[in-house]
This record gives sequence, structure tokens and C-alpha cells, in this order.
Amino acid sequence: MLGRIVISRERIDAVVGRMAAEIESDLENRDPIFIGVLKGCVYFLTDLTRRIGRPVEIDFIQASSYGASTTSSGSVVLVKDITADVRDRDVYLVEDIVDTGYTLHDLVKLIQARHPRSVQVVALLSKPSRREIELDPDFLGFEIDDVFVVGYGLDFDERYRNLPDIHEFVPDGPESS
Ligand code: IMP
Repeated sequence: MLGRIVISRERIDAVVGRMAAEIESDLENRDPIFIGVLKGCVYFLTDLTRRIGRPVEIDFIQASSYGASTTSSGSVVLVKDITADVRDRDVYLVEDIVDTGYTLHDLVKLIQARHPRSVQVVALLSKPSRREIELDPDFLGFEIDDVFVVGYGLDFDERYRNLPDIHEFVPDGPESS
């Protein structure tokens, strides 16, 4: 059930602003395309790119999700591909959270096979204690402990994405506000 707020909307807002500034200074002489990893990226990607004071292209990719489970199966299946050609482009792969690392590891490999000029990972959250494969985001918002979280794009069984704050979620636990 929905638990305590782990990261408030005010903290999210401040960190997204800081990340947008960092990325903006990284953009010089680049031909950027922001590829959001659906569906968890949507609020983060829209807030982030709106704060980048340069015209940028966006596209979306989707890999298989956990469904109604809170642990990763370790195998990633592509559900929706991008439509853009990334050859010689500077790709920023935008993800809500890095957990075991498998999703981004596979997606980076997939993008790299298409000969972009560069690929960088932008993640709002990371759970370093859960990592099973090496994956260090180039731009990171927050490191969190090993708790399952929902809100600001993150779901449990497709629900709770639209919460403005990020909450802990305890399957079958008592609900709190
Ligand atoms: P990874 O492949 O294990 O790194 O998992 C990445 C994906 O798992 C993320 O894009 C999320 O969709 C999902 N995920 C991992 N941890 C959480 C969480 O705490 N809440 C909601 N989704 C999560």
C-alpha cells in the first residue's frame, strides 16, 4: 500500500532544475536527441526538457516492465522502438530509475549498435545496492535505498504514476497518506 513520501515534489523540482542546467552545459557542439524510456520517464522527461533552453528532439522507447511484481526478472524485451535515426547524434537516454541495471544496459547496447556519436544515461533515481550489472548514470538525480517507490512516473501495476511526490510502496502493507 501507499507509504510515506520519500522525495517531495519540491525536492524533485529542485533536482530536475539542477540536472537540466548540467545537461544544458553539456550540450555545446552536440546534436542532441532525448530518448525517454516509457512509461516511467514521462513526467521527468517533460519537466527536464522544458527547462533546457535549447531546441531539442525527443523520442520514446519501451522495454518490458515488471508487471504486477516489484522485482526484476532480469530479461528485457523491446516493446516499442524509436522512430528517429540516431546515427551521428548525441543520445541522452532518459529513465525514471536504475535498479538492477539490466534495462539500461540492454537499451544502451541497442542504441550503440546504431552508431550514434555518443550515448549518455540520465536517470532521476538509482538504487545502487540493487545493481546486478555495472551501470553508472552520467546524470543522476537521487540515490535511494532498496525500497519500492511510486509516483512522478513510477508505477505499481500501472497505478500511482500521477502522484506528484515519490512515495514508498509496500505491497499488501497498511495504507498511509
Ligand atoms: P532494472 O532493469 O532492474 O534497472 O529496472 C528498471 C525498471 O524497473 C525501471 O524503469 C522501472 O520501470 C522499474 N523499477 C525499478 N525499481 C522500481 C521502483 O522502485 N518502483 C517502480 N518501478 C521500478
